Amino acid sequence: MGSRNIAVLMAAGKGTRAGGGVPKQFMVVGGRMLLEYALHTFQRHPAIDGIAVVLPPGCQEAVRERLRQGYPKICAFAEGGDERFRSSWAAVQLFAGRAADNLLLHDAARPLLAPRTVSDIIGALRHCEAAVAAVPATDTVLHAGNDSLVTEVPARATLWYAQTPQGFRAGLLQRAFERHFRHPEISPTDESGLVHHYCPETDIRIVPGTADNFKVTYPADIARLRSVLRHESRV
Ligand code: CTP
Ligand code: MG
Repeated sequence: MGSRNIAVLMAAGKGTRAGGGVPKQFMVVGGRMLLEYALHTFQRHPAIDGIAVVLPPGCQEAVRERLRQGYPKICAFAEGGDERFRSSWAAVQLFAGRAADNLLLHDAARPLLAPRTVSDIIGALRHCEAAVAAVPATDTVLHAGNDSLVTEVPARATLWYAQTPQGFRAGLLQRAFERHFRHPEISPTDESGLVHHYCPETDIRIVPGTADNFKVTYPADIARLRSVLRHESRV
């Protein structure tokens, strides 16, 4: 069997900043749970061969069963950890024997994923081993020390905001994680940071993200999502 394109849906967070009774990925907005929006996009995308979902520890079997029923491309579940990189590591280990597969890690908290972005990541992975969706920075980004004194003002034209999906050859991601666990040097906030640090020889290609692909982080983002969904159903 050749290499496959596997979507990895990251849904094991606590959603602290969004508040609410349940973690944001399980909140029902516009008639479905937040995590189902991206699931739906991956399920329908013709180039995606399978989906792995990372869920919080102790997530009920009924939730898994319901997801399996609704999204038949789901081929695996993993149990997430306390930090995001623990959750992605749990998923990456599922593909230990599949070094040539492409893993597309995506935040369940980014419901408005465009199919085009998925295609672009997969397209880029034909020519390199790592690709990340990103949009050009719109604010000037300041670099500062603990004393809040600015140490650097990088030229805005060189700066991008990283989104997800972030796509990697599974073998590359395994190597980056193994190096990290052997000699931890940074606390990675996303997988592009992890790969860039531990496999610096690797080219990481930026593909265009979209403004709609924002991450639901605060309660105001839920309101923004509702407003986009309302607008879409009108046109
Ligand atoms: N995530 C995860 N495992 C973690 C932390 C985060 O799978 N230990 C996932 C979240 O479910 C989310 C995505 O990574 O889809 C982006 O993380 P973030 O927006 O920070 O979500 P939370 O960590 O859940 O939210 P908060 O930081 O406000 O608690
Ligand atoms: Mg978080």
